[in-house]
Amino acid sequence: MGSKNHIIWGVTTAAAQTEGAFDKDGKGPSIWDTFTKNSRKIKDKSNNQIATNFYERFAEDIDVCVDIGLKIFRFSISWSRIIPDGTGAINEKGIAFYNKVIDYCLKVGIEPWITTYHWDLPQKLQDKGGWRNREVIADYENYVRVLKDHFSDRVKNWILVNEAIVCIGAGYFLGIHAPGKRGIKNFSASIHHILLAQAKGFYILKTDNNLLVGTAVSCTKIEAYTDQKRDQKAALRIDALMNRLCIEPYIGLGYPKNELPLVTNIEKFIQEGDMEIMKVDFDFWGIQTYAREVVKSAWYIPYLGCVLVSPKKRKVPVSVMGWETYSEGAEFFLERFSKYDPEKPLWLSECGIALSDEEDDSKRIAYYKKIIKGMENVIAKKINLKGILLWTLVDNFEWAEGYIPKFGIVGMDKTTLNRKMKKTAIWLKEYFSNQFD
Ligand code: NOJ
Repeated sequence: MGSKNHIIWGVTTAAAQTEGAFDKDGKGPSIWDTFTKNSRKIKDKSNNQIATNFYERFAEDIDVCVDIGLKIFRFSISWSRIIPDGTGAINEKGIAFYNKVIDYCLKVGIEPWITTYHWDLPQKLQDKGGWRNREVIADYENYVRVLKDHFSDRVKNWILVNEAIVCIGAGYFLGIHAPGKRGIKNFSASIHHILLAQAKGFYILKTDNNLLVGTAVSCTKIEAYTDQKRDQKAALRIDALMNRLCIEPYIGLGYPKNELPLVTNIEKFIQEGDMEIMKVDFDFWGIQTYAREVVKSAWYIPYLGCVLVSPKKRKVPVSVMGWETYSEGAEFFLERFSKYDPEKPLWLSECGIALSDEEDDSKRIAYYKKIIKGMENVIAKKINLKGILLWTLVDNFEWAEGYIPKFGIVGMDKTTLNRKMKKTAIWLKEYFSNQFD
């Protein structure tokens, strides 16, 4: 039995969006547990205390992956479930939970992938400044060591930090995600610390040569509103912020200072040797992309110097997230990354569309059909694409948007938490079965 193309399909999930069991079996609080206590921060005034109850229903969810024909289950580890205070004592019950998840995956023939950090910092570390405080790097290293010691015998593929630019941008600059901090100082320190922590985490995992260690980066296609020079410059600036800042230091290009003046703020937090340490050769890049933004110069906006032109004004289709639906971004960014290094394995480590309850799921099928078309182009261009991970399996807690956006290929009854395959899951199952002859 051979597959018609080599693309491997799987799903991505995240602890804070699915697990629930927020205080069970010794788990310590994370910044999202704190943040959601203030219901004004979340659009539907919900929280993630129960979420999809993946904590108890993980086997059922992994079974659904098998049924659909997915091969990879990427999940994140909740740091404060493993080390409740962020540093110090290990919670054996937390280790036991992830052992169960990993072992179940392997038992049913699904490859487990670990994300070490998907935005849920232990609250105890936030009390000391969180990513703003350089000391958190050593805590992260210690945490990664614990994960390696316990799980690397069975998990080969690791993603260190998920979308650094989004978690620090939303959490430490705009204040719309946990921990709700704002301002350029918080942002600049935190972005440098998380990127440096990720590099150090890489070296720890790579003391085992068998592991494949990468990162997952958020990419947003940026275009200028007009061809006037100031709009063009604004587009280059935002592209540098969104699509280069958290990538190019690892390639040895440093922070994109020429296009992005706010890098001078970050430089204040760089210590001798940091940029050398950050030159890590990831085993793969995980690219995650959803939307396109169009920018217009606006001198009065501090640091960014521009505003976004809304999708409504541009008269383009939007998802319930308010984002322009732009599946073409996947092909664009895979091609762009292949230029950094044509040999480097690439994954589309998240892609998906959020629909509302009222919308018909055939919209999601149409979206994935476009993704597949784009990937066929990518393969034809001989880009080293390995596989696609969908965002996501089951409708879940979409951060500050609560439960309103539905990204899942599987739905969930809010009261019973029972799962039900959507049209997309059924269609994908059919698609995968035709991939084999
Ligand atoms: C990226 C993030 O990794 C994930 O947590 C989020 O739910 C999706 N994008 C959709 O916004």
